[in-house]
Amino acid sequence: MKGNIGRLLRHQRLQVGVTQEELAARSGVSARTISRIENGLHRPRPTTVRELSIALGLADSAAEPLPAAMRGAIPEQRTATGTRSFLPRGPGRLVGRGREATSLRLAMADAAGHEASIFLIDGMPGIGKTAFALHFADSMASRFSDAQYYLDLHGFTPGRSPLTTQEALERLLAMAGLHESQIPTALEGQSALWRSTLAAQRSILVLDNAADADQVQPLLPGTANCLVLVTSRRYLSIPSGTLSVSLGTLSLDQAVEMFHLTVGPQREIDEHDTVAEIVELCGRLPLAIWIAAIRVVRRPSWTVGQFAARLRDSPCRLVELAVDNQEVSTAFGVSYQRLKPAAHRAFHLLALHPGESFELDEAAALIDATPDEAYQLLETLVDHHLLLQHSFTRYRFHDLLREYAAHTLMPPTLPPGAGIDQDGSLGRTICECRCGAPGWSTALGASATGTDLAHQPA
Ligand SMILES: Nc1ncnc2c1ncn2[C@@H]1O[C@H](COP(=O)(O)OP(=O)(O)OP(=O)(O)O)[C@@H](O)[C@H]1O
Ligand SMILES: [Mg+2]
Repeated sequence: MKGNIGRLLRHQRLQVGVTQEELAARSGVSARTISRIENGLHRPRPTTVRELSIALGLADSAAEPLPAAMRGAIPEQRTATGTRSFLPRGPGRLVGRGREATSLRLAMADAAGHEASIFLIDGMPGIGKTAFALHFADSMASRFSDAQYYLDLHGFTPGRSPLTTQEALERLLAMAGLHESQIPTALEGQSALWRSTLAAQRSILVLDNAADADQVQPLLPGTANCLVLVTSRRYLSIPSGTLSVSLGTLSLDQAVEMFHLTVGPQREIDEHDTVAEIVELCGRLPLAIWIAAIRVVRRPSWTVGQFAARLRDSPCRLVELAVDNQEVSTAFGVSYQRLKPAAHRAFHLLALHPGESFELDEAAALIDATPDEAYQLLETLVDHHLLLQHSFTRYRFHDLLREYAAHTLMPPTLPPGAGIDQDGSLGRTICECRCGAPGWSTALGASATGTDLAHQPA
């Protein structure tokens, strides 16, 4: 039970986008206590839970967030009109994504209430899928006013396995207000009850962080009066008629705007060119920009230029792009772990290519495979958003993913004692080995690494 409250608190804090220290400042609960609660080491008093809930904007002081927290559920927020709403708070303001929102709206207009609008939102780790889904759901809430459900399917959560269909259905039915005694024990019964519940409501269902299509399929509605937003780090094979939107990195202007919004009024920053350099070094990836902005806020004694220089001159930017429990390398690490050994090998070897992008036949030569074999491996990497399809037969890495691939070792070549951690922090562990320990960083020379990797078994 302690762990549930801790996970819930961490989840909600990250959704709101505040650090433990910022939450401490807002709530009056010490950062140490917050950290202990999140790690399951401390069971908070009711008043502490209430203070944290209010600081996270989950409830006003009259509401009762504690019992829900105790059950490990996401606290329900009843709106003034009595809507059952479980949407966590997204970023205060969403930057960009207007084109994607328009395409979803147009698809909804086309469906004209004849079929459920089911949208898949995919993209690389930290690209802003959850932020976009929550923002879009929020903008549609008045049209689906009976209920707005949100469920994290934990498809790519460090240190835990994806929810099973049964776990997911039980949580959704509990959110719909069904008591444990009303929920059938068999999966088919649960699934039927969930569909009939959705059929009776105009509701939004956000299924965040899906592992694969099989996890999502049994949770989908059978009727038209529901808007479903599914996010995943990989392309999902989708039911016919479903629209899929892949999110890309922000434009330079949007990335700069997001940096300033995240820093907020806490620090005045005039150096436009330096901020532009920072967001470029972040590959315009929202998660990286968010972390960079938080680091700048936390170090008032550094100039923005000094932070930019740290990022620029670091032998591994990913080491700098970490704050509290949020790390770009950990996010990448969970997706990486989903790959099979042959794809791991291709991922590392392809990162050695000196060009911005490469052709399929170059990739085949680099990984010593036939064009067909290389094509299958490249497609797998593209499906997991660990590689970008530049054009028909041309591919390229996102800057930070290339850096991740170049600075990490394949599991069989890990130094003794450095394994894939339970919390998925493979990237950090190895990155630290590579960048921190001289013995390992010298092994980074392209030819040496290339030779090593080329002899790994597929
Ligand atoms: N368009 C945006 N405008 C403002 N902030 C954003 C935007 N996109 C993402 N963010 C912020 O960037 C961070 C990462 O975004 P988010 O968690 O939505 O990424 P994600 O793609 O869902 O990541 P994951 O693959 O780990 O699930 C969050 O703090 C989020 O609030
Ligand atoms: Mg997400």
